Amino acid sequence: MDLMEYQAKELFAAHEVPVTLGTVIDDPALAAEAAAALGGRVVVKAQVKAGGRGKAGGVKLAADPAEAAARAEEILGMDIKGHTVRQVLLAPAAEIADEYYFSFLVDRANRGYLCIASTEGGVEIEEVARTNPDAVAKVPIDPLVGVDDEKALEIVAATGFPAEAADVIQRLWDVFVKEDASLVEVNPLVRLADGRLDALDGKVTLDENADFRHPGHSAFEDTASGDPLEVAAKAKGLNYVKLDGQVGIIGNGAGLVMSTLDVVAYAGERHGGVKPANFLDIGGGASAEVMANGLRIILGDPQVRSVFVNVFGGITACDAVSNGIVQALELLGDHADKPLVVRLDGNNVEAGRKILKEANHPLVTLVETMDGAADRAAELAALAVADDAASVAAE
Ligand SMILES: Nc1ncnc2c1ncn2[C@@H]1O[C@H](COP(=O)(O)OP(=O)(O)O)[C@@H](O)[C@H]1O
Ligand SMILES: [Mg+2]
Repeated sequence: MDLMEYQAKELFAAHEVPVTLGTVIDDPALAAEAAAALGGRVVVKAQVKAGGRGKAGGVKLAADPAEAAARAEEILGMDIKGHTVRQVLLAPAAEIADEYYFSFLVDRANRGYLCIASTEGGVEIEEVARTNPDAVAKVPIDPLVGVDDEKALEIVAATGFPAEAADVIQRLWDVFVKEDASLVEVNPLVRLADGRLDALDGKVTLDENADFRHPGHSAFEDTASGDPLEVAAKAKGLNYVKLDGQVGIIGNGAGLVMSTLDVVAYAGERHGGVKPANFLDIGGGASAEVMANGLRIILGDPQVRSVFVNVFGGITACDAVSNGIVQALELLGDHADKPLVVRLDGNNVEAGRKILKEANHPLVTLVETMDGAADRAAELAALAVADDAASVAAE
């Protein structure tokens, strides 16, 4: 789970990393008062899970509360790399002397951790690595030792950070380890005019596999800024990712679903450019309930015009899946209102097909091959899109 900047900073503060917290608001009417309470001169920062907010116009200085209100008005509602800004952080404007880059991350290739740091922070680190690779220090960290005094001094020496940074580095290591993060990035970590260090930005990725150790982390889950269908799917324990197309996809097994997206994308090119609407892996036990939950999420996407159910029967045999589909359609009743193309193969395929044929549901088309089914689903979606266009034109 990726955190917003203000959430990352809350974790920093909990581990005594020097940081200035500020105030988060979602309504520009609250900006002037919040800015005044912070001393008037503030920075207004878009809270979205995307980097480069500054470049995109999502980080603006304001000299006084009135200006803070104007900036908040501009930034709230803005789109940054496909993310709508629903909250802004107001923080006191810092007197910056130097901007550094600092991060801890998982180094899978070397089965360890890595610290990447540079005195050339504030800008994109990839850019620094390209134009001035010597300015970027990479210090491997032995997971069994971690960042002790010696390692912190090694990082300071490798980067050219001021000596006081050693203490901040160890506190950031505490955030990384004690919070079970897979990334802790501070860009910029600044040296202020008065010499103090301050984490002015923060990016933290938490390892969700460790959630059981951190009941407090659930507070970071944002239901407000996430896609509502993804939030609903997560609540049902479904592996769902919303995409931008018209053909809803349900499959069992991540690999099969990925290749289903590919064949639908190819088929879509023959049918007016329709595309897959989502990724949804219902996993092994395709029970009626799981199938119904999956269908409900997909049919809840107004862009969806047809649904392709692509199942390879394994431990859960095709007849069980077919029963799941039939019962799911019963459960959904009138909520199921878009054509379903079903392709079944694998364990007990004949019995599975027979169940669907006998049920003879008006919305269901059974197609034997994956390519054939993808083509039919794309065709049905394209027809529905064309119908919509025609009825709009007729109005
Ligand atoms: N509190 C602040 N006071 C003054 N300048 C700031 C403050 N926060 C950020 N900035 C400036 O804005 C730049 C971009 O902000 P940052 O939080 O790093 O967003 P992003 O990395 O998404 O662009 C920083 O590099 C810094 O120069
Ligand atoms: Mg930054």
